[in-house]
Amino acid sequence: MAVTIKSEREIELMRESCRLLAIVHKEMEEAIKPGMSTKDIDILGDTLIRKMGCIPNFKNYHRYPASICVSVNDEVVHGIPDKHRILQEGDIVSLDAGLIYKGYHSDAARTHAVGKISPQARQLIDVTRQCFFEGIKNAKAGNYLFDISNAIDAYATSFGYGIVRELVGHGIGTQLHEDPQIPNFAQRRKGPRLRPGMTLAVEPMINMGGADVVWLDDDWTVVTEDGSLSAHYENTILITEGEPEILTLY
Ligand code: MF3
Ligand code: CO
Repeated sequence: MAVTIKSEREIELMRESCRLLAIVHKEMEEAIKPGMSTKDIDILGDTLIRKMGCIPNFKNYHRYPASICVSVNDEVVHGIPDKHRILQEGDIVSLDAGLIYKGYHSDAARTHAVGKISPQARQLIDVTRQCFFEGIKNAKAGNYLFDISNAIDAYATSFGYGIVRELVGHGIGTQLHEDPQIPNFAQRRKGPRLRPGMTLAVEPMINMGGADVVWLDDDWTVVTEDGSLSAHYENTILITEGEPEILTLY
């Protein structure tokens, strides 16, 4: 499938989908505290999305059983919410969420601290977020897709962190996952040229230790092989002639 270019009308729908998702993320962030279960977060996010008249796009996606992916500590992504999994002071928790508004998908992720966390964990969260911003610095029409990948790699690597290779960012629009795939590690090729009207989900997943990950027996939860902490930061962006528009920021 070719990379889709959105029309002005579609871009307006993407903007609204993403604006609503940013509110969902804000509300979930404010709710996080030690003692709550990962299922509590899923219920909160799911309820908000439906109150907005939208559809949680993760629910039942390839049979994923929840609306919000909640991944704790060494869990990289796709943690399955569980009422028995209780957040503890000092944990880090990655929330990945998406919704459909009038047929248009949004997708964003953040890693949050639960109470007071170690300076090392704080740095991992901050660097992962900055990886996104480094990546999109040159994400404008005329540049190449893998300029984003290369910038993310250079920044994460400068801290000695492991970059997850098995999972990548993606185009987004009337489907949650559209072309192109967006790796977070350096590429030899340039990739497709960026054009105005492309909407992309850029999502570095960064490990404090090694890059390798494994899947748990639930067939969803991705964890670091070495048990080190992992963080995730994702926004849906719009490519323009100038600076990219970050659609899922609050
Ligand atoms: N948010 C993921 C992504 O960024 C997709 C999650 S799919 C689910 O591509 F099924 F796990 F929810
Ligand atoms: Co995504």
